[in-house]
Amino acid sequence: MSGSEHQTVRPAVRLGGTVTVPGDKSISHRVAMLAAMAKGTSTVKGFLCSEDCLNTLKAMQALGATVRHEGETICITGTGGALHAPTEVLDMGNSGTGIRLLAGLLAGQPLTAELTGDESLRSRPMGRIQKPLADMGARVDLLGERGCAPIRVTGGPLRAIRYTLPMASAQVKSAVLLAGLAVKGDTVVIEPRPTRDHTERLMQAMGLDLKVDGLTVTLHGPGLDRLNLRVGEWRVPGDFSSAAFWMVAGAMSDGAEVVIQGVGLNPRRTALIDVLRRMGAEINCELDPGCSIWEETGTVSVRGRGLCGTEVGGDEIPNLIDELPLVAVAGAVAKGETIVRDAAELRVKESDRIATMCRNLSLAGVRFEEAADGFRVRGGTVRGGAVVESSGDHRIAMAMAVLGLHSAEPIDIRNVGCVATSYPGFWNDLNLLTRW
Ligand code: S3P
Repeated sequence: MSGSEHQTVRPAVRLGGTVTVPGDKSISHRVAMLAAMAKGTSTVKGFLCSEDCLNTLKAMQALGATVRHEGETICITGTGGALHAPTEVLDMGNSGTGIRLLAGLLAGQPLTAELTGDESLRSRPMGRIQKPLADMGARVDLLGERGCAPIRVTGGPLRAIRYTLPMASAQVKSAVLLAGLAVKGDTVVIEPRPTRDHTERLMQAMGLDLKVDGLTVTLHGPGLDRLNLRVGEWRVPGDFSSAAFWMVAGAMSDGAEVVIQGVGLNPRRTALIDVLRRMGAEINCELDPGCSIWEETGTVSVRGRGLCGTEVGGDEIPNLIDELPLVAVAGAVAKGETIVRDAAELRVKESDRIATMCRNLSLAGVRFEEAADGFRVRGGTVRGGAVVESSGDHRIAMAMAVLGLHSAEPIDIRNVGCVATSYPGFWNDLNLLTRW
């Protein structure tokens, strides 16, 4: 298979083997942005060279950082905190993380910058970052329709705020914390539910005074003139959300054994493992010896067994938000019903993932019921034999590929170029695991 615009995925006769997934997308964005704020050169290993993260690197270059690729290592020489005014619009491609976090970083800079993205990104809500950044003193103009990108950020001196997030969003939390770098004083963010904490961990590892107390995060901002971020060597762990495709593919196949190495095992990202165990999969996680507390990594081994349905909701949701299309796929072959609640955020991802999964799974013969904040899947044998559309959403394309491996008839997935935004080697790894 190649990375062409459509892919036909056939039922796998056997599935198993060992893969190493590419670097974590969320962490790669954050390392690129914070290294660009440091004074000196950081070296980054395992950086995810996918379209999304390369766009962020390009944006940081346009803002004054120097980026050098040395084989697999990326060297980023930062600006010491004084970003340059960009001479052109910053194109963040498909990435909500890229545009929202960068808006936060720019909020404290004495400059104006315009940020945009592709059609999908230009349909996603940006009001959620406009409000707290405006409270801090920045101006964020939403230039697109219905509160969407392009956005224009006019930064300047900021004040400390105490902000209670109206939704569980690591992107919004991170935008406020990145703006908080420019504040001399305490920026406090309170989350309704725990979300991924990569920004907090990296800020601490870079020497910032950041404390976490339950759902409250407090950054004691140094102000830009006193910013002194530690430069060093950062090793980005493998992306749990990429590994998730193979965990689910293995869990769905009776007798399969799939091993994934070097996976990020930050506990704010691993709820899928609990869900798959509840569904009946045998999963073993072994932490890498001496792995850093900055971001722990390990090997995950999955043994497939007949799955049964489960219910997912509450605090688990932000912890597996990007894996929910895969929960639907696993539910499609599980005995009984799989129910997901409290996941309305799925409607504002790269596509409306509840609607897209409903359309695609129904076309493949799966009984799928949509709810405003989730879905219900009745499991059984999956017919497949359908042409489905990714809607330009990388995780939908890859989740449908996993379903194709477990359907009676092949599934033809249209518009799969989007896979390159997060997992350029996906089709190769799929071949690797199905040809043994
Ligand atoms: C991300 C946070 C999540 C997730 C996204 C990456 C991040 O979005 O869905 O893929 O890197 O912070 P929200 O924080 O908007 O839920």
